[in-house]
Amino acid sequence: MAQAVKHFLQFNDLAADELQYLFLRTTLIKEKFKRYAPHHVLSDRTLVMIFEKASTRTRLSFEAGMHQLGGAAIYLNTRDSQLGRGEPVEDAGEVISRMCDLVMIRTFEQSIIERFASRSRVPVINGLTNEFHPCQVLADIFTWVEKRGSIKGATVAWIGDGNNMANSWAQAAEVLDFNLHISTPPGYSLDASIAGVKATSFKHFDDPMQAAKDADLVCTDVWTSMGFETEDDVRKQVFADWRVDPEMMAVARHDAMFMHCLPAHRGEEVSAEVIDGPQSVVWDEAENRLHIQKALMEYLLLGRVEV
Ligand code: CP
Ligand code: NVA
Repeated sequence: MAQAVKHFLQFNDLAADELQYLFLRTTLIKEKFKRYAPHHVLSDRTLVMIFEKASTRTRLSFEAGMHQLGGAAIYLNTRDSQLGRGEPVEDAGEVISRMCDLVMIRTFEQSIIERFASRSRVPVINGLTNEFHPCQVLADIFTWVEKRGSIKGATVAWIGDGNNMANSWAQAAEVLDFNLHISTPPGYSLDASIAGVKATSFKHFDDPMQAAKDADLVCTDVWTSMGFETEDDVRKQVFADWRVDPEMMAVARHDAMFMHCLPAHRGEEVSAEVIDGPQSVVWDEAENRLHIQKALMEYLLLGRVEV
């Protein structure tokens, strides 16, 4: 029987030992990139990137990453392809996956990417859905690992919306065994059933200061995610106390880091003093999208390679 295709649709599609391998591999791939050493392990392979929402980092990191692996990347969006004209997603999965080696999709509901993957002959990677953003959390945890070593047992505070990033952090907490403290306004809490985690995999705090207290890492994200723009005015009022500011960082551990997947809105979910301050690692976090996704693409296509 043919081996099942390995997709990365949610963070917990990778087990702890696979993640450890990826972090090691990413370190090597990043080091080679820094000294301009070629790493053309995917020559003649093609990645198709399908975007139904805007992107800067995800598009750039996948496109540049595939080029650096010796392959090619093709960009499709809903506007200029048949995807926006009602072609069934299953048909798109059949056709697109016969012409390429790897697919990355950024879309709305998680069910869309799951339907596509169910008909895809090649690995499919989640480049963000309403429910999950697993590639970003991979990059975030690699950034932690690079700076501090294992994340096991550390305390991560998530301040803000119980959104796609929060759900992926909750899965990561379960797989990698760290503490996740989440504070969201009433009505925006993380739903364990949507995140696909046990209710015990994170701890909810009504008060964001309590969630941030003694944290090793403080994370936030936009108050209004893509696709929810009509709620923006209401959210700006509801989320006003869920801003990561110097007072909040002061209750975290003295060496706590600050992360944000970007794009950021200074003065909303984070103050300029924090995101542009010494505890912020947001630029390394953004850069690491490139390196970890190169390791991920290599892994999905080639499996484990001797490090
Ligand atoms: N963090 C992130 O996914 O950024 P983009 O929306 O620019 O891709
Ligand atoms: N939660 C945000 C992340 C953007 C990278 C969104 O979905 O828009």
